[in-house]
Amino acid sequence: METSEKKVSLTGIKPTGNLHIGNYFGAIKPALELTKTYEARYFIADYHALNTVKDAAALSANIREVSAGWLATGLDPEKVVFYRQSSVPETFELATLLMGFTSKGLMNRAHAYKAAVQANLEKGNDPDAGVNMGLFTYPILMAADILLFDSDVVPVGEDQTQHVEMAQDIAEAFNFNYARKGGAHTEEDRLGLKIPTALVRENAAVVPGLDGRKMSKSYNNAIPLFCEEKQLRKFIMRIVTNSQGVEEPKDPNGSQIFLLYKLFASAEEQAALAARYREGGMGWGQAKEELFRVMNRELTPLRERFNAIMANPAQLDATLAQGAEKARSIAAKTMKRLRNIIGIQ
Ligand code: ADP
Ligand code: TRP
Repeated sequence: METSEKKVSLTGIKPTGNLHIGNYFGAIKPALELTKTYEARYFIADYHALNTVKDAAALSANIREVSAGWLATGLDPEKVVFYRQSSVPETFELATLLMGFTSKGLMNRAHAYKAAVQANLEKGNDPDAGVNMGLFTYPILMAADILLFDSDVVPVGEDQTQHVEMAQDIAEAFNFNYARKGGAHTEEDRLGLKIPTALVRENAAVVPGLDGRKMSKSYNNAIPLFCEEKQLRKFIMRIVTNSQGVEEPKDPNGSQIFLLYKLFASAEEQAALAARYREGGMGWGQAKEELFRVMNRELTPLRERFNAIMANPAQLDATLAQGAEKARSIAAKTMKRLRNIIGIQ
């Protein structure tokens, strides 16, 4: 399974709800493309989800759906190490180790924490109201996910680049400490932690939602990836438009309908529809119909595979168990190496 020349690509998705189109283009699709050239390690970040999902039934349903989602969109568990974060306890040991190398000030600067504090201040609340330590230390757990597997690249959406940079900072603090003290015995010990790089897919870095803001579960503006055809049409019909009439020429790139269309249509289809926008004579309703057509064309086979996987839970469990075993054998080696470096054998 492990071939030493190939670089490692690693990414995780939090099972906090149903997968949506933003997750597909921003996270899953680019990650799957990388499996052709990288040694890939992809996982379900279930402990990250616990910060917000405290309903046990909902969390376990989300875990199954996100797992099935990866498989339905084309992840091959024979080629990719595919696992749940919670199946790799070494992750949590590494997170504890990394805490000793992470300044509190670094965590204070994390966007998600800062946004929570800002929202509290605006409401006149205590700055830390509703902030749990899982949220505050989120970047440390994520750094552990990444560093445990000697990841070279981390395919993520733009919003996650700060977290990857924090993983770099934490790894450098660790490496610097032991390099100075000359604690290295072997070449691998000297290496310490590999420094990862975020890989953002530029042309789909931010997928717009129904209201034109970034598509996100938290904005209630998302189009689910696997919803049934009828629902898909309903979501598309809810896309917010301006008040331009049918006859008016329209700027294709000024509308999230066209931005979404571009994700699903061929270059020829895009050029042809952009011309129709500019000519005038095409209303928003028609533009939405065109979007539905190309979206449903790409999503139908994914939806069918997803439904088939969800209908066979034993098979899904077996796939995840197999992935967990592979992941743990890699993780155990890393922890042995790191324990040796820090002096805890
Ligand atoms: P949400 O914002 O809906 O809660 P998550 O934070 O769970 O989504 O995101 C999971 C992955 O999908 C991350 O890698 C994130 O960068 C990516 N992602 C989420 N929404 C979008 C979007 N609208 N455009 C591009 N990528 C996205
Ligand atoms: N924080 C990521 C998100 O919100 C999920 C995640 C957890 C992740 N651990 C990771 C992504 C490690 C990449 C690498 O989407």
